[in-house]
Amino acid sequence: MPAKKYIAVVGGAGYIGSHMVRMLLDHGYSPVVFDNLRTGHRRFVPGGVPFVKGNLDRPTDIQRLFERYPTRAVMHFAAASIVPESVRNPLLYYHNNVSACIHLAQVMIDFKIREIVFSSTAAVYGHPKKVPIPETARLAPVNAYGHTKRMIEQILEDVAFAHHLRYVFLRYFNVAGAHPSGKIGEEHRPETHLVPNILKSLKRSKNRFFLFGDDYPTRDGTCIRDYIHVQDLCAAHLLALRHLDNKKDSDVFNLGSGKGYTVRQVIDMVEQVTGQPVQYTVKPGREGDPVKLVASSRKARDVLGWMPTHSLKDMIASAWQWEQNRSA
Ligand code: UFG
Repeated sequence: MPAKKYIAVVGGAGYIGSHMVRMLLDHGYSPVVFDNLRTGHRRFVPGGVPFVKGNLDRPTDIQRLFERYPTRAVMHFAAASIVPESVRNPLLYYHNNVSACIHLAQVMIDFKIREIVFSSTAAVYGHPKKVPIPETARLAPVNAYGHTKRMIEQILEDVAFAHHLRYVFLRYFNVAGAHPSGKIGEEHRPETHLVPNILKSLKRSKNRFFLFGDDYPTRDGTCIRDYIHVQDLCAAHLLALRHLDNKKDSDVFNLGSGKGYTVRQVIDMVEQVTGQPVQYTVKPGREGDPVKLVASSRKARDVLGWMPTHSLKDMIASAWQWEQNRSA
């Protein structure tokens, strides 16, 4: 049996996974990408990085990955992650997220791969009673997406206990921004996220921007979110991997900046960065949207030594660079 050297980046052709692959390379790791390319992009995988096209719902595909590329740890980014879509089509989410993770965990056990960094979400907290939200807050998701992520955390906790697997769950808040190279960034079809949707409306006037809800109980009536740069997020994954490599216990961390911005403040920042006015139409609030999500990331700072270094302005500037570079 050859030495296990690969870090399997499941969903490595997607927005966050593709940034992670580059960061792993920059730090001397050997990533292998596993992706079904349903929402990921083959061109986001750097040349020279092994790529396995496969589906998590087919265990034989996962077996093929681990047979060809002896793997010591998995980073799992492959999930459906759009809150309103999960409200409309919950079974897609239970299938894509929960069933898929059961297959992945089973094949990991079969191949004696015992480290996983799992992309969880602030959506596990639902409508939190207090913000900033600590990791110990009650888990009470309010949409199918959040439920699936909470279920996966539970499944992996139980599997960890039974099979000596160790995990780090990273609960993301709102990820934005793009790689400094300008070669990769956020590209979903359809796009539902705030920052790319505002920027797309500046690029083409036919891409109208809708602001969902301006009568929430916040300072300007729009929802508050905690935005984190994709590069800071990936830096936290690297520290999580080191945490597991150093034989530390399984753990869970929030990843956010600790600062909340309203949708209108994000619009203002876009206007400042791009020098263009943002036109928008106000629509009713979306189903399942919590009013305010802001992280306490103190634990990630204390335990992992993680410190986000990018501001909202940096996120928007890099996302704007990407938006202008890409052809779509
Ligand atoms: N919004 C708009 N117009 C748009 C898009 C978004 O007004 O075109 C508003 C939303 O209503 C919300 C805020 O901008 O108030 C942020 O919405 P996003 O769709 O960008 O992000 P979400 O907060 O819905 O969800 C994101 C991820 C989830 C994750 C969550 C954690 O998609 O996976 O952040 O905070 F769980």
